[in-house]
Amino acid sequence: MKLLVTGATGKLGSKVMDVLLESVPADQLAVSVRNPEKAEDLRSRGVDVRQGDFDHPETLDTAFAGIDRLLIISADGDNDTRIRQHANAVEAAQRAGVKFIAYTSIANASESKNLMAPPHVATEKAIKETGIPYSFLRNNWYLENETGSIEGVLAGAPWVTSAGSCKTGWALQQDYAEAAAAVLSGDGHENTVYELSGPLYTQEELASALGEVLGKDIPVQQVTDEEYAEIMKGLGLPDFVIPIVVGIQESIRNGSLAVESNDFEKVLGRQVTPLNEGLKQIVNAIQAK
Ligand SMILES: NC(=O)c1ccc[n+]([C@@H]2O[C@H](COP(=O)([O-])OP(=O)(O)OC[C@H]3O[C@@H](n4cnc5c(N)ncnc54)[C@H](OP(=O)(O)O)[C@@H]3O)[C@@H](O)[C@H]2O)c1
Repeated sequence: MKLLVTGATGKLGSKVMDVLLESVPADQLAVSVRNPEKAEDLRSRGVDVRQGDFDHPETLDTAFAGIDRLLIISADGDNDTRIRQHANAVEAAQRAGVKFIAYTSIANASESKNLMAPPHVATEKAIKETGIPYSFLRNNWYLENETGSIEGVLAGAPWVTSAGSCKTGWALQQDYAEAAAAVLSGDGHENTVYELSGPLYTQEELASALGEVLGKDIPVQQVTDEEYAEIMKGLGLPDFVIPIVVGIQESIRNGSLAVESNDFEKVLGRQVTPLNEGLKQIVNAIQAK
């Protein structure tokens, strides 16, 4: 049985590999990475490092050869680019005779009004059409996505949001990585859709939990999308990023991440790391920089 992870030199993928290496013999593990030099550490730990780029399907034929179970970690470009790249990966998996595909999707992908849903809807559909057994890991929201806001708070800023009172199921990437590793290496996950949501909290509840971690009150500033865009611009975010960060606020305000589910606990076999513990880890990581 040979397992392969794409995006293994990314933040989530490298955590998935660390988890897999604790329980799966290294000679059963492979990665497909754009730049093998970035995966030297994995090679030195016995992992089969292969070069593969979703933009160059021919590289994926070599990368996926002989692979039984594949974890496709979604790429990080704009929607059209990701749809094309993921389609290339799925087609290559079919050509290679892969027997199981796990894919990192987004909360409630098929019903979602989330700005980021289209690539995930398209990729889930493409995977289903291959007939290959699958598991969709519908990751809700990385707590690490809030690192910039937490840095702002540490520098004395309020918690700024235009997401209103809708809730989000934040969890640490480490929890998402452990869930992905469990599904890739475990039995009984064929044709499953897992809504991987942490306990749901509002922006106010998140700020309050952060306040407890930091031992201070954190004011929450609910603003309009236009004001949010101006504030982000003022913080120096590049122009092309502004509609993305505003779209995320809008998606959260639409309730697209307010997905209640115990799938995460079921897959992990334990509770999701509590919010205050996750926040502590992120604050420590920021302060250690
Ligand atoms: N649910 C959420 O909260 C949330 C939030 C943000 C993002 N996401 C999704 O989760 C994914 C993983 O997150 P992350 O933090 O690990 O992001 P990341 O560190 O940016 O990792 C993205 C990975 O995709 C790989 N990649 C990009 N383009 C590729 C291509 N053409 N062919 C093959 N691989 C390619 C990158 O390869 P290199 O290592 O070579 O750069 C990298 O390993 C993101 O890419 C995004 O789709 C989810």
